[in-house]
Amino acid sequence: KQQQMPYEKGLDHSLKLLREGYSFIINRKQAFDSNVFETKLLGEKVICLTGSEAAELFYDTEKFKREGAAPEPVKKVLFGDGGVQALDGEAHRHRKAMFMDVMSQEQLARVRDLTEKYWDAAAAAWENRDEIVLYDEINRIFTQTACEWTGIPLGDDEVDTRAGQLQELFESSAEVSMSHLKARRDRSELEDWVKQYIRDVRNETRDVPEHTPLYKFSHHLDHNNEKLDEQTVAVELLNLIRPLVAISVYVVFTALALHEYPNEKEKLHTREEKRLEWFIQEVRRFYPFFPFTAARVNKSFSWNGYEFEEETLTLLDLYGTNHHPGDWNHPETFAPDRFADWDESPFNFIPQGGGEFDLGHRCAGEWVTIDLMKVSLDYIAHKLNYTLPEQDLSYSLAEIPALPASGIRMKNVKRKD
Ligand code: HEM
Repeated sequence: KQQQMPYEKGLDHSLKLLREGYSFIINRKQAFDSNVFETKLLGEKVICLTGSEAAELFYDTEKFKREGAAPEPVKKVLFGDGGVQALDGEAHRHRKAMFMDVMSQEQLARVRDLTEKYWDAAAAAWENRDEIVLYDEINRIFTQTACEWTGIPLGDDEVDTRAGQLQELFESSAEVSMSHLKARRDRSELEDWVKQYIRDVRNETRDVPEHTPLYKFSHHLDHNNEKLDEQTVAVELLNLIRPLVAISVYVVFTALALHEYPNEKEKLHTREEKRLEWFIQEVRRFYPFFPFTAARVNKSFSWNGYEFEEETLTLLDLYGTNHHPGDWNHPETFAPDRFADWDESPFNFIPQGGGEFDLGHRCAGEWVTIDLMKVSLDYIAHKLNYTLPEQDLSYSLAEIPALPASGIRMKNVKRKD
């Protein structure tokens, strides 16, 4: 039997979303005692979903589509126009295959090796400095890694500029402010920068190895057997580079967790692979990053007695699902050991989206993220000595993306042995 979905009264709740940030959906889920409810954002009716059962519904590609789902500022800054995130059906599957093709074991090994190379170079340089800000340093390391992996040349004198511009894309996409305008400019400069190298590949004016994403994406044929336009190739290469650099946010939270949970750090001392993995999985579950993801109802349907009307904007709470009491015991406790018996459901642990990689919109870069976090965790926990001076390590769930205020300042950083 049909029933009215719990709904939040009032004309618009966008300001509350800005104020409550990561807690917006959790707060209402608790108030309504429901994993499904309706609210209004930017004058539009919006359905919010949380928890693994609702996540499974959300990732049914018959029921939901991505066309027209991402808010304009997110599309203009974070994703870029024409990117894989907004595609559906055959066009999506074909484009997604282009991404998954550069996530092979060989490619992952290349990214890991490059990360270690740039970590080593950076750690050597830190020995000559009194103090570093970890967030800024990792942004540079990952910018170098991402550019060399994808095949985009990056001069030493360019590292700071490009790292700063990339950082701006994932820090400012949610903001309605001057920095959002700056981020839009940064995006168009980054697209122009990448385009010159796409032209080089296509005109064969520079030798570019065939295994690089730059080469592969530039020659990729779409589902109509046509090359992608230069703009789309640039957007998709930045869909590799930008999120790879954004892993710096997780590395900062990893360093914070090592500091806040010394007992958990102690358990890592054997450097056993599985313990490193449980630790970084718990970092991805516990700390906030991507708040929610968006889709629209493809065709009207009903679920658990509730009507989902065609075209309705629908948000799936990623942070809230990772903290859902129906899916996790003591969700507010940082406990890496919980991953020893995690059921590997594609719907209860979704920091980078859920469902399937090939058919759905689950993050193409999840394996890269896990690898780079493991390398970085091992580096910070076992290859460095450092001290944390007095600083503000707090972060706020009201700010998207959340980040420890100091970016983690480290003093007297020295390599071990
Ligand atoms: C999609 C998070 C790293 C490439 C996504 C989605 C999320 C996400 C939430 C959307 C899922 C959905 O809408 O259902 C993250 C986080 C990362 C990360 C938190 C850690 C920093 C990466 C990396 C890459 C990458 C390293 C590539 C090197 C992509 C791509 C998509 C995507 C291409 C679009 C997939 C599609 O629409 O089919 N990511 N990601 N991400 N991510 Fe990531």
